[in-house]
Amino acid sequence: MRPVSVADYRLAARRRLPRVLFDYIDGGAYGERTLAANTEDLARVTLRQRVLRDVSRLDFGVELFGQTLSMPVILAPVGLSGLYARRGEIQGARAAARAGVPFSLSTMGVATAAEVAKAVAPPWYQLYMIKDRGFMSELMARVREAGCPVLYFTVDLPVPGSRYRDARHGMTDPRLAARLRQAMDGLAHPAWLWDVRVRGGAWTLGNLAGAGEGLTSLNQFWSWIGRQFDASITWKDIDWVRERWPGPLVLKGVLDVEDARAARACGVDGIVVSNHGGRQLDGAPSSISVLEEIAQAVGSDLSVLMDGGVRSGLDVLKALSLGARACLIGRAWVYALGARGEEGVTRVLDLFRQELRMAMSLTGCTSVREAGPNLLMRGKFESGFGTD
Ligand SMILES: Cc1cc2nc3c(=O)[nH]c(=O)nc-3n(C[C@H](O)[C@H](O)[C@H](O)COP(=O)(O)O)c2cc1C
Repeated sequence: MRPVSVADYRLAARRRLPRVLFDYIDGGAYGERTLAANTEDLARVTLRQRVLRDVSRLDFGVELFGQTLSMPVILAPVGLSGLYARRGEIQGARAAARAGVPFSLSTMGVATAAEVAKAVAPPWYQLYMIKDRGFMSELMARVREAGCPVLYFTVDLPVPGSRYRDARHGMTDPRLAARLRQAMDGLAHPAWLWDVRVRGGAWTLGNLAGAGEGLTSLNQFWSWIGRQFDASITWKDIDWVRERWPGPLVLKGVLDVEDARAARACGVDGIVVSNHGGRQLDGAPSSISVLEEIAQAVGSDLSVLMDGGVRSGLDVLKALSLGARACLIGRAWVYALGARGEEGVTRVLDLFRQELRMAMSLTGCTSVREAGPNLLMRGKFESGFGTD
């Protein structure tokens, strides 16, 4: 059956990928309450249907950090994407370029920034703080050389999240039994095995080349993260990043108004209101539930982006109405990548555009730049957030 929604791509990815990888993508921290709240709270925001408003011409374009996006959607940085489909980062970047939206590359990507830049276009680059500052400086120099126009600095991962699904699969377990189970899991998914394991080249995290020996298996990645991610970082470290990054700098993982104000005070260009897709602090609020308050607090001084639970163009319009300039999509694009590769990602981006068109047409919104709270039901029948 042909997938026609992100939910369909999720099911198709579940069939094609080894269970350990599907659950790594699909799962969240601990009891997955925040993961669920991201989508449930977005579903509760109610769009206000308006009619007879001449919606024959719609403008989807948005300016962000000196670039024009064909619609307010960005492919979020997702680690290990090259394991969901062969050179998955390149496939995602191609689909994004075709759709006229940015592709973001994770530090934990299989392909390097230079490889994506050469094959398609320089990606927006996502960085974690690694203890070895010498290595960090070198990495940032490589990212600059590759021509990456925007740097996200992810701040909601001072320690790696704890996910029951990953633990059950022994994802971080170095013992032979766990590795054998993972090998059996791979053998049970031959299409993936042929595409990624046989034809996909070595399992390395390209951006981390030189950072540590033997980063060639899943459990080695996790123990490296545990050892190398710097839990001591504070707002002062933003200056350190700033000194090495002249371009637009975006803090990813802000969920609190006070932190958003601190981000503005330290002079970053944007923030992503995000709980890392519910993968870090279970019990934290959904991104959509805190978006409006944060966007109002920082005003137009910062570009406020949002992610978490965005599965359709309808969700995008809801987020824009509550103050986001654009949305990042994580699982939506990697389910499609895992299910159908580049073609799947292209199709999902088409779906987002069609759904956004539908949502704008029936709320009487002719330009994404004009979306605001007037597109939402508020008051008596309110099921969104806050009141007028
Ligand atoms: C499998 C997976 C891996 C991720 N890896 C990273 C990463 O390496 N760096 C990062 O900043 N965010 C990472 N994220 C978080 C996404 O960038 C994004 O914040 C999140 O997926 C948004 O929620 P959504 O999946 O509901 O759209 C990851 C998310 C997933 C699902």
